[in-house]
Amino acid sequence: MTTARGAIIVGASSGIGKSLAHELAGDGYEIGLAARRTDRLTQVGNELPTKAYVATMDVTDTADARAGFDELLEAMPPVDIVVLNAGVGSANESLEWEPTRETIDVNVRGFCALATAAIAHFESRQDVSSDLDGQLVGISSVAARFGNPSTPTYNASKAFVSTYLEGLRHRQATRNANVSITTVEPGFVDTDLLLMDDPFWVASPETAAAQIARAIHRKRDHVYVTRRWRLVAWLFTLLPESIRRRMLTSRS
Ligand SMILES: NC(=O)c1ccc[n+]([C@@H]2O[C@H](COP(=O)([O-])OP(=O)(O)OC[C@H]3O[C@@H](n4cnc5c(N)ncnc54)[C@H](OP(=O)(O)O)[C@@H]3O)[C@@H](O)[C@H]2O)c1
Repeated sequence: MTTARGAIIVGASSGIGKSLAHELAGDGYEIGLAARRTDRLTQVGNELPTKAYVATMDVTDTADARAGFDELLEAMPPVDIVVLNAGVGSANESLEWEPTRETIDVNVRGFCALATAAIAHFESRQDVSSDLDGQLVGISSVAARFGNPSTPTYNASKAFVSTYLEGLRHRQATRNANVSITTVEPGFVDTDLLLMDDPFWVASPETAAAQIARAIHRKRDHVYVTRRWRLVAWLFTLLPESIRRRMLTSRS
C-alpha cells in the first residue's frame, strides 16, 4: 500500500514554481511538474528528492492542458495540492494586441481551465484518509490591487485571479467537499517575469516559495508574499484613484 501523496504545480519550469517544487518535495510530496519547456521540467524533476512526473502543456491550449492535467492525476499518487502558478506579463503601455491577448490567454483563460479541472478532481474524490478533499493554490499578485498604466492587462488579469479565487471560497462554503483555496499575492520576486526596472523589496524565489509553502500548510485563504506587501495593497486600496494616478505616473 502506498502512503505517497502528490502535488501538481502548473508553471514549474522556472522562478517561483521551480522553487516551490523543491519546497513541497522537501515536505515529502511527489510532484507533478507542468509547463511548456520540457527540458527545464525534466531538469527540475531530476533535482527533487521525491519522484517527479513531467507534463508538457501550454495552458492556452485549454483542451490539451486539461487532458494533460488528468493524465498527471492518473499517473501520480493521490494529489492533495494543485498550485496554479503559470503566468506571463510584459510592459505594454502602447497597448499592442499580441501581448494583451497572450496575457489574457495564459493568466485568465488558462488559469480558469485548470482551476475548474482541479476543483472537479477534489470534489469527485472520496479520500477517507483525510478530512480535507484538497487544496487549490492560485498565484495572483499585489498587482491585482490597482490598475497600472504600463501593465494594464497584467494587473487586470491578476485582479481576475484574486476575485475568481474569492468566489470559489464563497462557493466552497455551500458544498459538501472540503477544499481549501489559497490566494497568493506576491510583490516583486527576482525572476524572469520581474516587471519593473527599479524594483524594491525584491524577494528571492526561494524566500517566496518558502512563504507560499507555509501558507499552504496553514491552509490560509489569502497571503501576501512577502508580508510587508500587505502595506502596499492596503495603501492602494484606500487611496483615491486621483492620488494613485499621481503616484503611478510620476515615474514616467
Ligand atoms: N516575479 C514577480 O515579481 C511576480 C510578482 C507577482 C506575481 N508573480 C506571479 O508568479 C507566477 C510565476 O512567475 P515567476 O515570477 O516565477 O516567473 P517565471 O519564472 O517566468 O515563471 C512563469 C512560469 O509560467 C509558465 N508559463 C508561462 N506561460 C505558460 C503557458 N502558456 N503554458 C504553461 N505554462 C506557462 C512558465 O513555464 P514555460 O515558459 O516553460 O511554459 C514558468 O514556469 C506568475 O503567475 C506571476 O504572474 C510574479
